[in-house]
Amino acid sequence: MKILYIGDIVAKIGRRAVGQVLPKLKEERQIDFVIAQAENISTGNGITKKAIKEMKDAGVDFFSGGNHSFKKPEGVDMLNDPNEPIIRPANYPGKTPGRGWKIAETPFGNILIINVLGQTFNGPQLDHPLKVINAILEENKSQKLAATIVDFHADLSSEKVAIGFYLDGRVSGVVGSHTHVSTADARVLPSGTAHISDVGMTGPIDSVLGVKKEIILDRWLNQLPNKFDWPKTGIVQFSSVLVDVGSNAKATQIEQILIKTEIS
Ligand SMILES: [Fe+2]
Ligand SMILES: [Fe+2]
Repeated sequence: MKILYIGDIVAKIGRRAVGQVLPKLKEERQIDFVIAQAENISTGNGITKKAIKEMKDAGVDFFSGGNHSFKKPEGVDMLNDPNEPIIRPANYPGKTPGRGWKIAETPFGNILIINVLGQTFNGPQLDHPLKVINAILEENKSQKLAATIVDFHADLSSEKVAIGFYLDGRVSGVVGSHTHVSTADARVLPSGTAHISDVGMTGPIDSVLGVKKEIILDRWLNQLPNKFDWPKTGIVQFSSVLVDVGSNAKATQIEQILIKTEIS
């Protein structure tokens, strides 16, 4: 089974790039299942029905989340809907809307997708990500799973590398998200877990993490609370990894797929 994970899709320009790239890529590479990081999928961050529908129409099957998942009320409603293929980080307190893991039923078998936030910088008050994943794996140990994918949404590269080794052999893949900058360390770890520290964003390259660069520099230089804005046109990097999973739910290969596309 071939599973594609698309890194943080940023705003409308990122969605348009997915629409332009994904249908052809799916066909060319015979991709079976597509997961996308959706925390920044709508302008201003968060999730909207329109943005999710657009991405489903483009071929995305499942949506993971992060620290920006709750920024839009309609996105919160979608997180609360058990029928929507959308999750948010699992290590929030119990009353946080939505779920931190779900099982996607596919023609190729059931796929368990887990989303967790790193604690450093992002939320020291959160539950311990490794212990939370242990509990989720324990809860699902009787399930017959074709694959398990963990989206580790975190800042620290050391934590992102370490969690790969911690879960090696127990899950099919550990993919990093959140920094919006791709790392060059994709590999299959010794016991069969595909790993990359960060997939990087699907957003405009002429930007700072997807936001107009002038705004970020002005905020930094002059300490003014300028509102964020996102480029509407330009070159977008579609950032993804393609994981091949064997019949034993272990990864045999991970390939980083980075495609530049122009949005005009
Ligand atoms: Fe993000
Ligand atoms: Fe994030």
